[in-house]
Amino acid sequence: MIINSRNRRLRTTPALRALVQETVLTTNDFVMPIFVMEGSQKQEPISAMPGIFRRSIDLTVQECRELFSLGIKGVNLYMKVSEDLKDNTGKEAWNKNGLMQNTIKAIKDAVPEMVIMPDVALDPYSMYGHDGIINNGKIDNDATNEALVKMSVSLAEAGADIMAPSDMMDGRVAAIRQGLEENGFTDVGILSYAAKYASSFYGPFRTALDSAPKENQDIPKDKKTYQMDFHNSREALDEVLKDVAEGADIIMIKPGIPYLDIVSKVRDMIDLPIAVYNVSGEYAMLKAAAQNGWLDNDKAIIESLTCIKRAGADMIFTYAAKEAAILLNS
Ligand code: PBG
Repeated sequence: MIINSRNRRLRTTPALRALVQETVLTTNDFVMPIFVMEGSQKQEPISAMPGIFRRSIDLTVQECRELFSLGIKGVNLYMKVSEDLKDNTGKEAWNKNGLMQNTIKAIKDAVPEMVIMPDVALDPYSMYGHDGIINNGKIDNDATNEALVKMSVSLAEAGADIMAPSDMMDGRVAAIRQGLEENGFTDVGILSYAAKYASSFYGPFRTALDSAPKENQDIPKDKKTYQMDFHNSREALDEVLKDVAEGADIIMIKPGIPYLDIVSKVRDMIDLPIAVYNVSGEYAMLKAAAQNGWLDNDKAIIESLTCIKRAGADMIFTYAAKEAAILLNS
């Protein structure tokens, strides 16, 4: 029997497979999310995220040096804020000497080439664990935007390179862009979490920062009035186009692996760089299975991240960045 076209022909040897390989994963694709806390010489493991720690600024700087030497070019920063600094306005977020501001300065000093992308949202600073200010039991969109602008200008003053607003308020990209321009930060970029879904996969992250919405009948119990409904995909395209029009430099889709259909659709639609967030719950699932010996940790990490890139990501925010960089360098 003559088969005209045999797809297996190009899979015969490693060299042939390398020649026809379409997607190449490199350390240039990774952004490492980092959790920071007060103190010095302190490091605490995060439950449900094996291998991930909260660190004081000095140890964070040390970690950033190591990450950069492994080829990782960007870090995304999250602060564990002490309860007594939290309120409804989130004003600690624009404290010139706040934990985030001091972290940015310290990393800039030690590893100036590292691209610093602080998370811009009020939840770690909010007594209610919400990304926005609450008025009359609701998240006040426009008041929150004003706070996010103050936060962004303060983080730019500290030396941040790219704002990463993850709050999902309407109009905040335009507001932050205007605030940065008016204050002379014309080169500071915005990576907008344009399509961020209300997802159960953020669970481990919220325990890392104690930032889950508080149990309180006077406030919304979840983030569904601002984060997107996971049943929808056309809505994501609309969110993305609006953020592009408002002046975003990079567009984020989040979570990652369960949402690669969205990544692929957005890739077909826009030419700006796309970032995808391989979130805490995705990391926890992989680690849990690997720790049980149910799947091969190293192979599963490289496969997952390659698939995210194949779907259309230009950069991947992932807690596995350091591990993957070590694997790719070896
Ligand atoms: C907060 C924020 C969250 C994440 C990134 N920024 C949590 C949330 O929206 O509740 C989640 C990241 C992860 O799960 O890895 N604005």
